[in-house]
Amino acid sequence: MSRLAGKVAIITGAARGMGAVTAKLFAEHGAQVVIADILDEAGEALAASIGKNAHYVHTDVSNEADWQRLVEKAESLGPLNILVNNAAILHASSIADSDGDDYMRVIKINQLGTYLGIRAAIEPMKKAGSGSIINISSIDGLQAKNGLSAYASSKWAVRGLSKSAAIELGPYNIRVNTVHPGGIFTAMHGAEGKTEPSEQDNAFYVNHALPRVGLPIEVANMSLFLASDESSYSTGAEFLVDGGWQAGMRLSMLPSS
Ligand SMILES: NC(=O)c1ccc[n+]([C@@H]2O[C@H](COP(=O)([O-])OP(=O)(O)OC[C@H]3O[C@@H](n4cnc5c(N)ncnc54)[C@H](O)[C@@H]3O)[C@@H](O)[C@H]2O)c1
Repeated sequence: MSRLAGKVAIITGAARGMGAVTAKLFAEHGAQVVIADILDEAGEALAASIGKNAHYVHTDVSNEADWQRLVEKAESLGPLNILVNNAAILHASSIADSDGDDYMRVIKINQLGTYLGIRAAIEPMKKAGSGSIINISSIDGLQAKNGLSAYASSKWAVRGLSKSAAIELGPYNIRVNTVHPGGIFTAMHGAEGKTEPSEQDNAFYVNHALPRVGLPIEVANMSLFLASDESSYSTGAEFLVDGGWQAGMRLSMLPSS
């Protein structure tokens, strides 16, 4: 079934990981996909493997001029309908052991990058008559962990930014939602070079409702729903793909563990 037939989609951070799986899925569902990343070799190779429905554009999401070129490429394919702000980096460090530069590096890509993306998509989506913007936040945009202060700050900000944007852009039928993945088996999660999760990869999740790590396709499927017209009355909302992490923990000291 072609759930995105005739649509044009930009996906950032799509040279690998969740973004790459999302790009493939969207193309399978009939979208023209523009893959935006700084990993040129991987991005070009992915576009070539997907075929004529995929195009790669070198894009640093924290650079406003790059967004202009990216949107121009997308519009050369047709009206821009979908933007997935997926690119992000993670910096693990305590607040005491990091400094303002470490903090701003994360904020510039994860937070400013998402803002610039929304901004660049507004006029093209108004012209298109509608749009769906999907901002990939995280479980860390709903709760927090030690050692991830910059990342959590950026992901909470993406959630607030998305709600503001949803309210501003709703009158133009442009929807803006956040997706909150839990632990997903990608390079960011230490899966580089591995094909499938081992018992050890799943071990951390033993007390979660679904006791395993998530797979990139499980997040991509949520983005597909949000990108399609099936989610036409959803905006300003949070969509969890976290195996029940946010719901709570299974505690061995209590019954039914
Ligand atoms: N993997 C997880 O467990 C997990 C959990 C929650 C949320 N997320 C979020 O999911 C999204 C995808 O992450 P992933 O796990 O696939 O990670 P990943 O590291 O495999 O992919 C991130 C991609 O973003 C690109 N990128 C980095 N800086 C960029 C920049 N300045 N401009 C353009 N592209 C840039 C990278 O080159 C890479 O291709 C991210 O927003 C991440 O924060 C991941």
